[in-house]
Amino acid sequence: MRQKIVAGNWKMNKDIDEAMELVVSLEQYRHDFSQDVKVILAPPSLYLANLEMVEEPFFELSAQNCSHHDYGAFTGEISPAMLHSMNIGYCIVGHSERRQYYHETDEMIAKKIDACLRNHVRPIFCCGEMLEQRNGKHHFVTVLHQVEHALFHLKKDEMKQVVIAYEPVWAIGTGVTASSDQAEEMHGFIRDTLINHFGEELAAEIPILYGGSVNAQNSAELFACPNVDGGLVGGASLKAKDFAQIIVSAS
Ligand code: PGA
Repeated sequence: MRQKIVAGNWKMNKDIDEAMELVVSLEQYRHDFSQDVKVILAPPSLYLANLEMVEEPFFELSAQNCSHHDYGAFTGEISPAMLHSMNIGYCIVGHSERRQYYHETDEMIAKKIDACLRNHVRPIFCCGEMLEQRNGKHHFVTVLHQVEHALFHLKKDEMKQVVIAYEPVWAIGTGVTASSDQAEEMHGFIRDTLINHFGEELAAEIPILYGGSVNAQNSAELFACPNVDGGLVGGASLKAKDFAQIIVSAS
């Protein structure tokens, strides 16, 4: 069975006290969480070391971005080699905010995925179309292009480490979520794309998360879709009660 995952992308939010408070508040709900659902927290990188110190954590940790280099003169950057040295198991790669505001190209994203994999960090690869692309009925071709560029060069044992997050850009932070039909349609399309390239057995194992205005009210319906294996949650992951409900709804 595919791993169910609920990941919280905190983006550039919370000071350190608020961050630790959120973890403590979430902890109070841990007995409601199923062992079958992996919880991943992606705080600002600055706080990863603090969260790594939490004893008997109910969560794993992810960075929100990384360099595609291992070490060197790249001021301000953090590498997957460094993440691995801190026991950080995941890194979000290719988030639409990185594509949009930091001009990350498909080529850079592919290099970041390679850097993660060679350093034993599992990439959470984000893809998704913009509103104009969906309105113009180019959403499938857009996502296909993103998936091809980022993942098709990988060997099967590398691909096994990848988590995919489908995040339609028009749904991120807007309060407008994809309907469960829209999500399932795209997740099924991504699964078929993986089947065609990597074969049925491997494609069946890859978790495909949905992201974009997931909240405590809509998560159960989205996660009930056969090809939706959990969520990448932004805004609602900043509130303990809401995020806990979302985690519970994935089981
Ligand atoms: P949102 O963000 O849940 O606030 O829409 C999701 C994301 O950007 O990963």
